[in-house]
Amino acid sequence: MTDWNDDEVRARFPSLTIRDEARERVYLDAPAGSQVPQRVIDRMVEALVVSCANEGGHFRTSQGTMRIVEDGLGAAAAFLNAGRDEIVFGLNTTSLLFHFSRMLAREWQPGDEILLTRMDHDGNVAPWLVAAEERGVTVRWLDFDPETFEYRYDALDTLVGPRTRLVACNHASNLLGTINDVARIVAAGRAVGAVTMVDAVQSAPHFPIDVERIGCDLLACSPYKFFGPHAGLLYLKGELRDRLKPLKVRPSSSDMPTRFSLGMPSFEAIAGTTGAIEHLAWLGDRFGRGAGGATLRARIVAGLDAAARQEAVLMRRLFDGFDQLRGF
Ligand SMILES: Cc1ncc(COP(=O)(O)O)c(C=O)c1O
Repeated sequence: MTDWNDDEVRARFPSLTIRDEARERVYLDAPAGSQVPQRVIDRMVEALVVSCANEGGHFRTSQGTMRIVEDGLGAAAAFLNAGRDEIVFGLNTTSLLFHFSRMLAREWQPGDEILLTRMDHDGNVAPWLVAAEERGVTVRWLDFDPETFEYRYDALDTLVGPRTRLVACNHASNLLGTINDVARIVAAGRAVGAVTMVDAVQSAPHFPIDVERIGCDLLACSPYKFFGPHAGLLYLKGELRDRLKPLKVRPSSSDMPTRFSLGMPSFEAIAGTTGAIEHLAWLGDRFGRGAGGATLRARIVAGLDAAARQEAVLMRRLFDGFDQLRGF
């Protein structure tokens, strides 16, 4: 392990060299999306140049496409601590949730209930609201305390019950920055047999996600928030994967990884997602604590940990700067 080297990390991002009217461009909109390292660009270009074909063929380009998918599944599984047959790639988190809410809602009956939260991005609200309205299902809401910006966990017992079919919650808020105890919310949902969904779009870029530990049925994140291309990534627990009747065209296979594919996915985005996860692993190799020669998962965890330590340094510098502003 070596100390964090800003120059070395920044040199990997071509967009950081862009000048506007001779001034260095400054990127301040991290929650909306990150810049991409050269590795991601290379992976995507390679996919488009070398393996530009649909999967399923016996010819060279199609075989290359299948390798891209295999690599993507392996990387995403390591990233989320999931099985590789529990991964679904999509356009983005919102469209994945519209797709899955439609399949899940087939199991709902009028009078059933779902629990949503007041701290979620609409991407983890609107799909469930639409499905609930179509099925005559009652929507309950988990609120947060406007003083502490924490969920009102105490209300969980009264909000879930035998008719709760779904509990959907937020891991890290794009609105408040709160990091939520999603394992606690998931446990409450599981206790009554509800399907549980965690939106990890804002947490996945900042700390390791472990679906085993959270215990949820579904978890979604968006690679463009962690150095990747615009894409969505969904974890789908094996039991639910096997139970859900897929919404798909008839000739498409019911086996993973295509079981939930809506036509051909963006293979170049899958390749880019692999590149983004490799970038995190590289951070682990360069600046992580004791990740040398370890599994991909351990290297990713070490990379996120190293980045979090550096984020704390930058945050301190920012707050010190605020302190020096007059009238702030
Ligand atoms: C917490 C959270 N959830 C969901 C989304 C939607 O993600 P996507 O654009 O991949 O649909 C966002 C986007 O900013 C978000 O911040």
